[in-house]
Amino acid sequence: MSQHDDKRRRLLGRLSRQFAYTAPVLALVAGGAALQATAGNTSTEAGFAPVSEAALLLASSNAVAEGEAEAEGEAEGEAEGEAEAGSSAEVRRPDGYTPDYSETDENPQELLARGEELYYDTSLSTNGLSCASCHGSDGDDVGYKATFEQPFPHQVAMASSQFGMPEVHADEMVQVCMVAPMAAEPLEWGGEKLTSLAAYMVEVQKRFAGEPHDL
Ligand code: HEC
Repeated sequence: MSQHDDKRRRLLGRLSRQFAYTAPVLALVAGGAALQATAGNTSTEAGFAPVSEAALLLASSNAVAEGEAEAEGEAEGEAEGEAEAGSSAEVRRPDGYTPDYSETDENPQELLARGEELYYDTSLSTNGLSCASCHGSDGDDVGYKATFEQPFPHQVAMASSQFGMPEVHADEMVQVCMVAPMAAEPLEWGGEKLTSLAAYMVEVQKRFAGEPHDL
């Protein structure tokens, strides 16, 4: 606990260097929080308070990702400046892995329902965010780039710039968002959480692309 706080404080010191990546995401979080404020909260002050909180935590999560990469880089004796990206080992499918959901065929409705439930679950993160904090509620589908219109696997800027992955499957993208913006451990490979969230995101991808979907 206090070790985590220490780490966070130490890494917050690096934030100025992170600004190029952090700024657009902060704008995204602020946008989401502003939407929530408009929808449910009549007090502007109360509506805006969580923005700075989310922004700080998000920024620190980016710094944590960088710090971990740097620690690994140091362990391998690399120059400090080269260790910009996170390790892809924890977000990439393990060798020989076969997921329990499909990116090409329909997934069972229970899996989608469970995935939707987890999408709103703030307990998945260590910073109070849920997937919906950044990607919207009730089918808003915000915070994605145009690359999300292509079926999985495909190229995603955050996965390539932060983790050096040229393209990602849906489950790998869930892991990227777990580790980076959600500041959490990756979900268990083959576990029901990752499987359901990935299946749900495959349907969201179809909805985002304007295709028929089961949501
Ligand atoms: C703090 C904000 C934030 C949170 C929280 C977050 N994400 Fe993301 N997510 C992003 C950003 C930013 C991108 C766009 C990355 C890009 O295109 O470079 C993204 C992209 C994605 C994409 C796909 C983009 C594509 O083109 O394929 C998926 C799928 C996704 N997120 C799923 C999730 C899931 C599932 C969760 C919760 C476990 C989650 N995200 C939580 C910020 C967030």
